[in-house]
Amino acid sequence: MLFTEFSLNNLSLKNRMVMAPMTRSRANQEHVPTDIMATYYRQRSGAGLIITEGVGPSPNGVGYPRIPGVYNDEQTKGWKKVTEEVHENDGKIFMQLMHTGRVSHPLNLPENGKVLAPSAVQLEDEQMYTDQEGLQDYPTPQVMSLNQIESTIKEYVNAAERAIEAGFDGVELHGANGYLIEQFLSPNTNLREDEYGGSIENRNRFALEVAKAVTNAIGENKTGIRLSPYGVFNGIKPHQELEAQYEQLAKSLNELGLSYIHIVDHSAMGAPEVPLEIKQIIRDAFSDGAIILSGGYTSEEQANEDLESGLGDLIAFGRPFISNPDLPYRLKNDIELADPNPDTFYTPGPEGYTDYPEAEVLEHA
Ligand SMILES: Cc1cc2nc3c(=O)[nH]c(=O)nc-3n(C[C@H](O)[C@H](O)[C@H](O)COP(=O)(O)O)c2cc1C
Repeated sequence: MLFTEFSLNNLSLKNRMVMAPMTRSRANQEHVPTDIMATYYRQRSGAGLIITEGVGPSPNGVGYPRIPGVYNDEQTKGWKKVTEEVHENDGKIFMQLMHTGRVSHPLNLPENGKVLAPSAVQLEDEQMYTDQEGLQDYPTPQVMSLNQIESTIKEYVNAAERAIEAGFDGVELHGANGYLIEQFLSPNTNLREDEYGGSIENRNRFALEVAKAVTNAIGENKTGIRLSPYGVFNGIKPHQELEAQYEQLAKSLNELGLSYIHIVDHSAMGAPEVPLEIKQIIRDAFSDGAIILSGGYTSEEQANEDLESGLGDLIAFGRPFISNPDLPYRLKNDIELADPNPDTFYTPGPEGYTDYPEAEVLEHA
Protein backbone atom coordinates (compact mmCIF):
# COMPACT_ATOMS: atom_id res chain seq x y z
CA MET A 1 0.00 0.00 0.00
CA LEU A 2 2.92 2.35 0.73
CA PHE A 3 3.76 2.41 -2.95
CA THR A 4 0.27 3.20 -4.19
CA GLU A 5 -0.70 6.65 -5.43
CA PHE A 6 -2.67 8.99 -3.20
CA SER A 7 -4.77 12.06 -3.91
CA LEU A 8 -4.09 14.61 -1.16
CA ASN A 9 -7.06 16.94 -1.53
CA ASN A 10 -6.62 16.68 -5.33
CA LEU A 11 -2.82 16.89 -5.25
CA SER A 12 -1.66 13.67 -6.83
CA LEU A 13 1.19 11.91 -4.97
CA LYS A 14 3.14 9.09 -6.65
CA ASN A 15 3.34 7.10 -3.41
CA ARG A 16 2.34 7.39 0.26
CA MET A 17 5.84 8.06 1.55
CA VAL A 18 6.42 11.49 3.02
CA MET A 19 9.82 12.93 3.83
CA ALA A 20 9.40 14.32 7.35
CA PRO A 21 10.40 17.95 8.02
CA MET A 22 13.98 18.13 9.27
CA THR A 23 16.02 21.15 10.23
CA ARG A 24 19.49 20.83 8.71
CA SER A 25 20.87 24.35 9.18
CA ARG A 26 22.36 24.61 5.68
CA ALA A 27 21.01 28.08 4.87
CA ASN A 28 23.45 30.99 5.15
CA GLN A 29 23.82 33.29 8.17
CA GLU A 30 21.12 35.56 6.72
CA HIS A 31 18.68 32.63 6.64
CA VAL A 32 18.75 32.44 2.83
CA PRO A 33 18.50 28.95 1.23
CA THR A 34 21.74 27.81 -0.43
CA ASP A 35 22.26 25.82 -3.64
CA ILE A 36 23.17 22.61 -1.79
CA MET A 37 19.65 22.63 -0.35
CA ALA A 38 18.24 22.30 -3.87
CA THR A 39 20.54 19.31 -4.46
CA TYR A 40 19.56 17.73 -1.12
CA TYR A 41 15.83 17.92 -1.80
CA ARG A 42 16.23 16.78 -5.43
CA GLN A 43 18.08 13.69 -4.21
CA ARG A 44 15.07 12.84 -2.02
CA SER A 45 12.32 13.55 -4.56
CA GLY A 46 11.38 9.86 -4.80
CA ALA A 47 9.09 10.58 -1.83
CA GLY A 48 5.43 11.09 -2.72
CA LEU A 49 5.60 14.32 -0.72
CA ILE A 50 8.56 16.20 0.74
CA ILE A 51 7.93 18.46 3.70
CA THR A 52 10.82 20.88 4.08
CA GLU A 53 12.69 21.64 7.25
CA GLY A 54 11.11 24.27 9.47
CA VAL A 55 11.22 27.67 7.73
CA GLY A 56 10.89 30.97 9.60
CA PRO A 57 7.90 33.08 8.50
CA SER A 58 9.32 36.17 10.22
CA PRO A 59 12.63 37.65 11.43
CA ASN A 60 11.22 36.83 14.91
CA GLY A 61 10.75 33.19 13.98
CA VAL A 62 14.24 32.02 12.92
CA GLY A 63 15.53 31.12 16.38
CA TYR A 64 18.24 28.63 15.34
CA PRO A 65 21.45 29.42 13.46
CA ARG A 66 21.34 29.05 9.67
CA ILE A 67 17.76 27.86 9.41
CA PRO A 68 16.05 29.23 6.31
CA GLY A 69 13.41 31.93 6.27
CA VAL A 70 10.74 32.97 3.79
CA TYR A 71 10.10 36.61 4.60
CA ASN A 72 12.21 38.45 1.99
CA ASP A 73 12.84 38.37 -1.77
CA GLU A 74 16.28 36.79 -1.59
CA GLN A 75 14.95 33.87 0.45
CA THR A 76 11.98 33.42 -1.88
CA LYS A 77 14.37 33.34 -4.86
CA GLY A 78 16.52 30.70 -3.13
CA TRP A 79 13.47 28.50 -2.55
CA LYS A 80 12.52 28.65 -6.25
CA LYS A 81 15.59 26.57 -7.08
CA VAL A 82 14.47 23.94 -4.56
CA THR A 83 10.95 23.58 -5.96
CA GLU A 84 12.23 23.50 -9.55
CA GLU A 85 14.60 20.62 -8.78
CA VAL A 86 11.90 18.62 -6.96
CA HIS A 87 9.24 19.20 -9.62
CA GLU A 88 11.65 18.29 -12.43
CA ASN A 89 11.95 14.92 -10.70
CA ASP A 90 8.19 14.47 -10.48
CA GLY A 91 8.09 15.15 -6.72
CA LYS A 92 5.73 17.31 -4.66
CA ILE A 93 6.87 19.62 -1.90
CA PHE A 94 5.27 21.53 0.99
CA MET A 95 7.13 24.12 3.04
CA GLN A 96 6.94 23.76 6.83
CA LEU A 97 6.32 27.17 8.40
CA MET A 98 8.04 27.11 11.79
CA HIS A 99 7.96 30.15 14.05
CA THR A 100 10.28 29.30 16.91
CA GLY A 101 8.72 31.72 19.46
CA ARG A 102 10.55 31.31 22.79
CA VAL A 103 12.82 28.53 21.46
CA SER A 104 15.25 31.11 20.23
CA HIS A 105 18.19 33.35 21.03
CA PRO A 106 18.81 37.00 19.99
CA LEU A 107 22.22 35.98 18.58
CA ASN A 108 20.46 33.69 16.11
CA LEU A 109 17.92 36.31 15.00
CA PRO A 110 18.40 39.13 12.49
CA GLU A 111 18.98 42.55 14.07
CA ASN A 112 15.29 43.45 14.07
CA GLY A 113 14.20 40.04 15.42
CA LYS A 114 12.50 39.63 18.81
CA VAL A 115 12.05 36.57 21.03
CA LEU A 116 8.26 36.49 21.39
CA ALA A 117 5.87 34.04 23.06
CA PRO A 118 2.34 33.92 24.48
CA SER A 119 3.71 34.36 28.01
CA ALA A 120 6.99 35.24 29.70
CA VAL A 121 7.86 31.61 30.44
CA GLN A 122 11.53 30.82 29.90
CA LEU A 123 12.61 27.41 28.60
CA GLU A 124 14.63 26.26 31.60
CA ASP A 125 17.19 23.46 32.13
CA GLU A 126 18.23 23.48 28.47
CA GLN A 127 20.41 25.68 26.31
CA MET A 128 20.33 27.06 22.77
CA TYR A 129 23.29 26.73 20.39
CA THR A 130 24.59 29.92 18.79
CA ASP A 131 27.35 30.09 16.14
CA GLN A 132 28.91 33.13 17.84
CA GLU A 133 29.06 32.07 21.50
CA GLY A 134 28.22 28.37 21.66
CA LEU A 135 25.55 27.22 24.11
CA GLN A 136 23.55 29.96 25.81
CA ASP A 137 20.65 30.02 28.26
CA TYR A 138 17.28 30.61 26.62
CA PRO A 139 16.08 34.17 27.22
CA THR A 140 12.77 34.94 28.89
CA PRO A 141 10.52 35.78 25.93
CA GLN A 142 8.58 39.00 25.47
CA VAL A 143 4.83 38.56 25.98
CA MET A 144 3.02 39.06 22.68
CA SER A 145 0.59 41.98 22.67
CA LEU A 146 -2.71 41.61 20.81
CA ASN A 147 -1.19 43.76 18.04
CA GLN A 148 1.81 41.45 17.84
CA ILE A 149 -0.48 38.42 17.63
CA GLU A 150 -2.28 40.05 14.73
CA SER A 151 0.93 40.99 12.94
CA THR A 152 2.38 37.49 13.49
CA ILE A 153 -0.69 35.96 11.82
CA LYS A 154 -0.09 38.33 8.89
CA GLU A 155 3.52 37.13 8.76
CA TYR A 156 2.32 33.53 8.38
CA VAL A 157 0.08 34.67 5.52
CA ASN A 158 2.89 36.57 3.79
CA ALA A 159 5.19 33.58 4.21
CA ALA A 160 2.59 31.18 2.81
CA GLU A 161 2.04 33.48 -0.19
CA ARG A 162 5.77 33.66 -0.77
CA ALA A 163 5.99 29.85 -0.57
CA ILE A 164 3.37 29.56 -3.31
CA GLU A 165 5.19 32.22 -5.35
CA ALA A 166 8.37 30.13 -4.97
CA GLY A 167 6.55 27.14 -6.51
CA PHE A 168 5.62 25.09 -3.42
CA ASP A 169 2.59 22.80 -3.66
CA GLY A 170 1.48 23.94 -0.21
CA VAL A 171 2.55 24.72 3.35
CA GLU A 172 2.54 22.81 6.62
CA LEU A 173 1.97 24.87 9.77
CA HIS A 174 4.31 23.68 12.49
CA GLY A 175 1.95 23.26 15.43
CA ALA A 176 4.19 20.66 17.10
CA ASN A 177 7.41 20.19 19.09
CA GLY A 178 7.11 23.20 21.37
CA TYR A 179 7.36 26.02 18.81
CA LEU A 180 5.15 29.11 18.74
CA ILE A 181 1.82 27.51 17.84
CA GLU A 182 2.25 24.79 20.48
CA GLN A 183 3.37 27.43 22.99
CA PHE A 184 -0.17 28.80 22.60
CA LEU A 185 -1.78 25.32 22.76
CA SER A 186 -0.07 24.24 25.95
CA PRO A 187 -1.16 25.55 29.38
CA ASN A 188 2.39 25.35 30.79
CA THR A 189 3.67 27.88 28.23
CA ASN A 190 0.43 29.85 27.80
CA LEU A 191 -0.56 31.65 31.01
CA ARG A 192 -2.63 34.32 29.25
CA GLU A 193 -5.83 35.57 30.75
CA ASP A 194 -7.21 37.17 27.58
CA GLU A 195 -9.00 35.46 24.67
CA TYR A 196 -5.82 33.52 23.77
CA GLY A 197 -5.48 31.60 27.03
CA GLY A 198 -7.21 30.00 29.99
CA SER A 199 -9.59 27.56 28.24
CA ILE A 200 -9.39 24.95 25.51
CA GLU A 201 -11.15 27.26 23.09
CA ASN A 202 -8.83 30.15 23.91
CA ARG A 203 -5.60 28.14 23.74
CA ASN A 204 -6.66 26.76 20.34
CA ARG A 205 -7.52 30.22 19.03
CA PHE A 206 -4.07 31.21 17.72
CA ALA A 207 -3.57 27.92 15.82
CA LEU A 208 -7.02 28.22 14.27
CA GLU A 209 -6.63 31.89 13.38
CA VAL A 210 -3.32 31.16 11.66
CA ALA A 211 -4.86 28.17 9.84
CA LYS A 212 -7.87 30.20 8.75
CA ALA A 213 -5.85 33.18 7.54
CA VAL A 214 -3.44 30.96 5.60
CA THR A 215 -6.18 28.84 4.01
CA ASN A 216 -8.05 32.02 3.01
CA ALA A 217 -4.87 33.29 1.35
CA ILE A 218 -3.58 30.20 -0.48
CA GLY A 219 -6.43 27.65 -0.31
CA GLU A 220 -7.35 24.92 2.14
CA ASN A 221 -6.16 22.27 -0.31
CA LYS A 222 -2.67 23.73 0.01
CA THR A 223 -2.51 23.78 3.82
CA GLY A 224 -1.67 21.11 6.38
CA ILE A 225 -0.65 21.20 10.03
CA ARG A 226 1.71 19.20 12.26
CA LEU A 227 0.67 18.42 15.85
CA SER A 228 2.42 16.58 18.70
CA PRO A 229 -0.10 15.63 21.40
CA TYR A 230 1.71 14.18 24.44
CA GLY A 231 4.98 15.59 23.08
CA VAL A 232 7.47 16.92 25.64
CA PHE A 233 10.04 18.47 23.33
CA ASN A 234 11.17 22.03 24.16
CA GLY A 235 9.67 22.02 27.64
CA ILE A 236 6.04 21.20 26.78
CA LYS A 237 4.11 19.28 29.46
CA PRO A 238 1.07 17.05 28.94
CA HIS A 239 -2.05 18.16 30.84
CA GLN A 240 -5.47 16.99 31.98
CA GLU A 241 -7.48 18.52 29.13
CA LEU A 242 -5.20 17.30 26.37
CA GLU A 243 -7.54 14.77 24.71
CA ALA A 244 -10.51 17.11 24.75
CA GLN A 245 -8.36 19.96 23.45
CA TYR A 246 -6.95 18.02 20.49
CA GLU A 247 -10.35 16.60 19.62
CA GLN A 248 -11.80 20.10 19.44
CA LEU A 249 -8.79 21.37 17.51
CA ALA A 250 -9.03 18.56 14.96
CA LYS A 251 -12.77 19.17 14.52
CA SER A 252 -12.23 22.87 13.93
CA LEU A 253 -9.38 22.18 11.49
CA ASN A 254 -11.71 19.80 9.68
CA GLU A 255 -14.27 22.58 9.34
CA LEU A 256 -11.58 24.83 7.88
CA GLY A 257 -10.97 22.13 5.25
CA LEU A 258 -7.24 21.62 5.77
CA SER A 259 -5.63 18.93 3.63
CA TYR A 260 -4.02 17.01 6.44
CA ILE A 261 -3.01 16.66 10.06
CA HIS A 262 0.50 15.29 10.54
CA ILE A 263 0.81 13.53 13.90
CA VAL A 264 4.21 13.36 15.60
CA ASP A 265 5.19 10.35 17.74
CA HIS A 266 8.73 10.62 19.06
CA SER A 267 8.60 7.54 21.29
CA ALA A 268 11.15 5.86 18.99
CA MET A 269 13.50 8.72 19.92
CA GLY A 270 13.11 8.13 23.65
CA ALA A 271 10.13 10.46 24.21
CA PRO A 272 7.07 9.21 26.14
CA GLU A 273 4.51 6.95 24.43
CA VAL A 274 1.83 8.65 22.35
CA PRO A 275 -1.29 6.57 23.09
CA LEU A 276 -3.07 5.04 20.12
CA GLU A 277 -6.32 6.57 21.43
CA ILE A 278 -5.23 10.15 20.79
CA LYS A 279 -4.26 9.29 17.22
CA GLN A 280 -7.67 7.67 16.72
CA ILE A 281 -9.45 10.66 18.29
CA ILE A 282 -7.72 13.00 15.85
CA ARG A 283 -8.37 10.68 12.91
CA ASP A 284 -12.10 10.49 13.75
CA ALA A 285 -12.49 14.22 14.41
CA PHE A 286 -10.61 15.17 11.23
CA SER A 287 -13.02 13.12 9.15
CA ASP A 288 -12.66 14.86 5.77
CA GLY A 289 -8.90 15.21 5.54
CA ALA A 290 -5.83 12.99 5.44
CA ILE A 291 -3.69 11.84 8.36
CA ILE A 292 0.09 11.60 8.12
CA LEU A 293 1.71 9.42 10.79
CA SER A 294 5.37 9.89 11.70
CA GLY A 295 8.09 8.61 13.98
CA GLY A 296 10.09 5.39 14.04
CA TYR A 297 9.08 3.93 10.65
CA THR A 298 11.87 1.99 8.94
CA SER A 299 10.15 -0.64 6.79
CA GLU A 300 7.38 -1.11 4.25
CA GLU A 301 5.61 -3.73 6.43
CA GLN A 302 5.47 -1.45 9.46
CA ALA A 303 4.10 1.41 7.34
CA ASN A 304 1.56 -0.83 5.63
CA GLU A 305 0.21 -2.02 8.97
CA ASP A 306 -0.84 1.52 9.91
CA LEU A 307 -2.06 2.32 6.42
CA GLU A 308 -4.14 -0.85 6.16
CA SER A 309 -5.69 -0.39 9.61
CA GLY A 310 -6.93 3.02 8.43
CA LEU A 311 -5.11 4.93 11.18
CA GLY A 312 -3.13 6.93 8.61
CA ASP A 313 -3.20 7.74 4.89
CA LEU A 314 0.45 8.66 4.51
CA ILE A 315 3.60 7.70 6.42
CA ALA A 316 6.44 10.10 7.08
CA PHE A 317 10.06 8.98 7.38
CA GLY A 318 12.63 11.28 8.98
CA ARG A 319 16.10 10.05 9.89
CA PRO A 320 16.09 7.21 7.32
CA PHE A 321 15.71 9.86 4.58
CA ILE A 322 18.82 11.70 5.79
CA SER A 323 21.17 8.80 5.08
CA ASN A 324 19.17 7.08 2.31
CA PRO A 325 18.36 9.66 -0.36
CA ASP A 326 16.75 6.88 -2.44
CA LEU A 327 14.72 5.54 0.51
CA PRO A 328 11.61 4.56 -1.53
CA TYR A 329 13.78 2.50 -3.87
CA ARG A 330 15.54 0.81 -0.94
CA LEU A 331 12.34 -0.07 0.90
CA LYS A 332 10.69 -1.37 -2.25
CA ASN A 333 13.69 -3.56 -3.09
CA ASP A 334 14.50 -4.62 0.47
CA ILE A 335 17.94 -3.02 0.39
CA GLU A 336 19.68 -2.45 3.72
CA LEU A 337 19.39 1.08 5.10
CA ALA A 338 22.41 3.23 5.96
CA ASP A 339 22.50 4.92 9.39
CA PRO A 340 22.69 8.72 9.56
CA ASN A 341 25.53 10.47 11.35
CA PRO A 342 24.03 12.76 14.04
CA ASP A 343 27.27 14.78 14.23
CA THR A 344 26.48 16.32 10.85
CA PHE A 345 22.74 16.94 11.36
CA TYR A 346 23.19 20.70 11.81
CA THR A 347 26.71 21.47 10.54
CA PRO A 348 27.20 23.69 7.49
CA GLY A 349 28.31 22.30 4.13
CA PRO A 350 27.70 19.16 2.08
CA GLU A 351 29.23 16.61 4.48
CA GLY A 352 26.53 14.38 5.92
CA TYR A 353 24.01 16.25 3.77
CA THR A 354 24.32 15.70 0.03
CA ASP A 355 27.08 13.07 0.11
CA TYR A 356 25.07 10.00 1.21
CA PRO A 357 25.23 7.70 -1.85
CA GLU A 358 22.30 6.02 -3.54
CA ALA A 359 22.14 2.22 -3.31
CA GLU A 360 22.66 1.83 -7.06
CA VAL A 361 25.78 3.97 -6.94
CA LEU A 362 27.13 1.87 -4.06
CA GLU A 363 26.43 -1.34 -5.95
CA HIS A 364 28.43 -0.21 -8.97
CA ALA A 365 31.29 1.32 -6.98
C1 LIG B 1 17.90 16.40 12.40
C2 LIG B 1 16.43 16.50 12.69
C3 LIG B 1 15.78 17.71 12.50
C4 LIG B 1 14.40 17.83 12.71
N1 LIG B 1 13.78 19.01 12.43
C5 LIG B 1 12.42 19.09 12.47
C6 LIG B 1 11.75 20.25 11.98
O1 LIG B 1 12.34 21.22 11.50
N2 LIG B 1 10.40 20.25 12.05
C7 LIG B 1 9.69 19.20 12.57
O2 LIG B 1 8.46 19.25 12.61
N3 LIG B 1 10.31 18.08 13.02
C8 LIG B 1 11.64 17.99 12.95
N4 LIG B 1 12.27 16.82 13.32
C9 LIG B 1 11.46 15.63 13.70
C10 LIG B 1 11.22 14.73 12.47
O3 LIG B 1 10.35 15.36 11.55
C11 LIG B 1 10.59 13.38 12.88
O4 LIG B 1 9.36 13.61 13.50
C12 LIG B 1 11.51 12.57 13.78
O5 LIG B 1 12.81 12.48 13.23
C13 LIG B 1 10.96 11.16 14.02
O6 LIG B 1 10.83 10.47 12.82
P1 LIG B 1 11.91 9.34 12.37
O7 LIG B 1 11.87 8.29 13.46
O8 LIG B 1 11.37 8.85 11.06
O9 LIG B 1 13.23 10.01 12.26
C14 LIG B 1 13.65 16.70 13.15
C15 LIG B 1 14.32 15.49 13.37
C16 LIG B 1 15.68 15.37 13.14
C17 LIG B 1 16.36 14.03 13.33
